[in-house]
Amino acid sequence: MRRRVVLYPEGSPVASLVAGLPPEFDGRAVRPGAVPALARNEDAVLLMDAGSDSPEPIAMAACRGGGIPVIALMATPPAAVTLPASWYACLPKPVAAPVLARALSNAFEHIRMRGEAEETRRQLEELNAIGIRLSAERDVDALFALILSLARAITHSDAGSIYLVEEPDGEPRRLRFQLSQNDSVSLAATYSGGVLTAAAHVPVNEESIAGYVALTGETVHLADAYAPPSSARYRINTAFDRHAGYRTKSMLVVPMRTPTGDIIGVLQLINCKPDRARRFASPEEIEREALPYPERFISLAASLASQAAVALENSRLYESVRVLFEGFVSASVTAIESRDPTTSGHSFRVADLTVALAQAAHRAEVGPFRDLRFSPDEIREIRYASLLHDFGKVGVREDVLVKAKKLPPLRLELIRQRAELLKRGLELRYARQKVDRLLKGAREGFEAQAAMWDLELTALLGEIDNHLATVGAANEPAVMPADAAAGIRSIAVRAFVDHVGESHTIITPEEAEILSITRGSLTREEFRQIQSHVLHTFEFLKRIPWTKELRQIPEIARSHHEKLNGSGYPEGRRGLQIPLQSRMMTVSDIFDALTASDRPYKAAVPVDRALDILDQERKDGALDSDVFNLFVDLKPWNLKPWESASKS
Ligand SMILES: [Fe+2]
Ligand SMILES: [Fe+2]
Repeated sequence: MRRRVVLYPEGSPVASLVAGLPPEFDGRAVRPGAVPALARNEDAVLLMDAGSDSPEPIAMAACRGGGIPVIALMATPPAAVTLPASWYACLPKPVAAPVLARALSNAFEHIRMRGEAEETRRQLEELNAIGIRLSAERDVDALFALILSLARAITHSDAGSIYLVEEPDGEPRRLRFQLSQNDSVSLAATYSGGVLTAAAHVPVNEESIAGYVALTGETVHLADAYAPPSSARYRINTAFDRHAGYRTKSMLVVPMRTPTGDIIGVLQLINCKPDRARRFASPEEIEREALPYPERFISLAASLASQAAVALENSRLYESVRVLFEGFVSASVTAIESRDPTTSGHSFRVADLTVALAQAAHRAEVGPFRDLRFSPDEIREIRYASLLHDFGKVGVREDVLVKAKKLPPLRLELIRQRAELLKRGLELRYARQKVDRLLKGAREGFEAQAAMWDLELTALLGEIDNHLATVGAANEPAVMPADAAAGIRSIAVRAFVDHVGESHTIITPEEAEILSITRGSLTREEFRQIQSHVLHTFEFLKRIPWTKELRQIPEIARSHHEKLNGSGYPEGRRGLQIPLQSRMMTVSDIFDALTASDRPYKAAVPVDRALDILDQERKDGALDSDVFNLFVDLKPWNLKPWESASKS
């Protein structure tokens, strides 16, 4: 209860009137020029005699922003214009004691209502601000904490909890305990003591207050939670109070209802305090001082719970879209990589490495990245760009994509069969020569001639076998010396004449060309096709209507094969033309391509050797030195078991 102080100017004739007031009023003289000192629980009205009192206290009262209403006693009615606007009332002299008491009472009521109006205005402002803050928060956990702390602040609640409605498969709806806050006792002990986790699930039924609210959608307000209405079936669970040395007194439990009417949770507020900042020292103090929730707090809490439900639904929706998209990206990347099992997991590993690099750069407080910061959205942008960087391989023919040797397996088999046919042709040719000689009856010298032909045939067959072996060796994608390439070309022009007199070579000039690729397994045209994956990636990613936060994804992915010195592709960009995120991805991409152990045509390179190769590229001006140094220091390949995780 607030104290009612009646101020009056020192020495004023009204002093005797004040002395005769009922005991609900405290009289207090004010010296001219002094500012009346009021305690936090005091309201004041200034009583004065307009005829004899100095106007100074009046000015003083007015200068408090009209905070102290003035009641002036006057002998004669004044002209309306002479009355100061700050005066609450004018009473004619002499004034009867009951009239003065009523006027004072009304003035104090006026103060109370003005305070309440001010409080309501402030709370509405706060509620608006809360709405804005809630709608801006996307992190669901942070949102719960925000909802509860704001709800407690606006209703002066010492404690509170949030429960969420959940519907497990095949089981009835229930409430899951989500979060608790308490100004007066530490919750850490009670969390670890298992009190809150023991009550982690509450059935949606009439036996608990939260369950009842979730079931019926009604708001429950109890002035004393230990004494619920006799008609109610619910009872409070006092385990927390016993364990924590607390007393749950007043309680306000409101449903969190979405605009479509679904109750998605329950907001439970406990122990309304005379003022927000108050901490209760003991259960006895709570017993004494916790207040029932005033009507306006009840409607504020209901309004906030609805706002919270909308924010929560939005946040969940946002999260589910994000998870859906993440799943879609993941499934798409897995599908693309399944076309080339030898590089499976590459995109996931590159994403892990690049995100680790970006996060390390973001954390750096010294060095070249000290001023660089990536927001969570920008990190997500890097992750998606990395996951999708090779997506354009979808546009590369599969036989090129998975090509491990210079010639496709069927082509090599064709060469073998061609050689075999040629050998049979040669054998037939020499056999026919022998038969013809015998048929002509030229037996003399036949034996010697036949032996010479046999030697010739054996030499030819041996030559063919040697050529086949050379072709087999040249088919491997290892680095080929120049003389070996010349040898292959000579095979393409070495003709053998078969039994019907036709000339054949073991390999065609086109095959010789393919077999004399000096490095790797790809022809120039095939190499161009592989390189085109970057453009396919860009074209594909450009078609996705990315949100504003993710709009750089196509650009970041497009530059992952560009090099700082302009030696990269597809555009030969240089230096700062290449986004930093892409430069990070390039290092991760090359590192993974070198160290991946699942490429049959290329043995995995040990980490040290891979770093040496990257370092050489850096010295050549192809890679970003700062990014490379960060990569070496961070060792992101050790940060998590990405190799096994991404291959599962
Ligand atoms: Fe690539
Ligand atoms: Fe790649």
